[in-house]
Amino acid sequence: MSARNRDTLGLGLESSCDETSVSVVRNGREILSNLIFSQIDLHRDYFGVVPEIASRAHLETVNGLVDGALREACISFADLAYVAATQRPGLIGSLLIALQSAKAISYAMNIPMIAVNHLEAHLYAPFLEAREPVYPYVGLLVSGGNTALYHVRGVADFTLIGKTVDDAVGEAFDKVAKLLGLGYPGGPAVELLARKAVLKKKLFPKILPDPNGDFRFSYSGLKTAVIQYRRANPQADIAGLVYAFQERALELLVRRGFAASREFGIPRIVVAGGVAANGRLRELFAGARNEGEEVIFASPVLCTDNAAMVAGIGYHYYRQGLYSPLDIDVSARV
Ligand code: KG4
Repeated sequence: MSARNRDTLGLGLESSCDETSVSVVRNGREILSNLIFSQIDLHRDYFGVVPEIASRAHLETVNGLVDGALREACISFADLAYVAATQRPGLIGSLLIALQSAKAISYAMNIPMIAVNHLEAHLYAPFLEAREPVYPYVGLLVSGGNTALYHVRGVADFTLIGKTVDDAVGEAFDKVAKLLGLGYPGGPAVELLARKAVLKKKLFPKILPDPNGDFRFSYSGLKTAVIQYRRANPQADIAGLVYAFQERALELLVRRGFAASREFGIPRIVVAGGVAANGRLRELFAGARNEGEEVIFASPVLCTDNAAMVAGIGYHYYRQGLYSPLDIDVSARV
């Protein structure tokens, strides 16, 4: 048997929101291909994802991406050991495209199908790169749809510690960017402009205090404060304004991440999801870290939605025989 035959090749599919992605991953670690079709241009005029447009675009794109991902990895369907797809949470019409495609491939090739939780996949992203997965860890998931803290003990073994009571942090970045005419998606635009700020004032109060054991997040108050400040100060420097917004938005993530890590006695935090691409967030975590504490980020391209993370966590399900039945349905919720 060749070394190639001893390897486990998995196909991952992702279509939970506005990225269609297909990836081939070897042994849960090595990315052989990771094709991502971003629908940002299709949704830009609406400043947010339009579900009907998203699901149609996934449908039109997915087959070409499957072919392309196999071709780029120089393999065929027959080389695959398993197929994994995001099954929850996300937009129903969008989720269906990856999951149904995976079911068809599983049935046709007689290989296991693995339904993956998008949040667990995001938290796995850093382990596609430098290192083996290490458990336990505190997982901080920060994206356009989620802001949540998890206690992750192992594969398929995680519990929610706390989450946002209103908006997700990425959603706040997007809404503030929309208000200020900075474009869509808002996160990268806000980060870029905040770096240019000359006046670095604390315009907004700290979000939520820190009573022990409170792991909630909240972003609608900060968003409203930005809107009111802008109305009252139409001539205000926009760079200074987004700087002040970003500092408060990110500071809460850092506080909550370390509070959970210290309270649970787990000196390892994995930060994942689109907002984890933010360079200032990485600086703030690095600055607040004590000796012996570790904060793990994926590279920016693996922070936003991609199928490599789906194939990657799927590998561990495959190894443990955690296969999904072909009649499993998608779910909008975690
Ligand atoms: O994980 P993701 O690709 O999709 C989901 O929401 O599931 O995250 C997208 C979110 C958007 O809200 C976007 O504005 C935000 O991540 N984002 C950022 C940055 N890059 C993307 N937020 C802050 N700073 C960034 N550099």
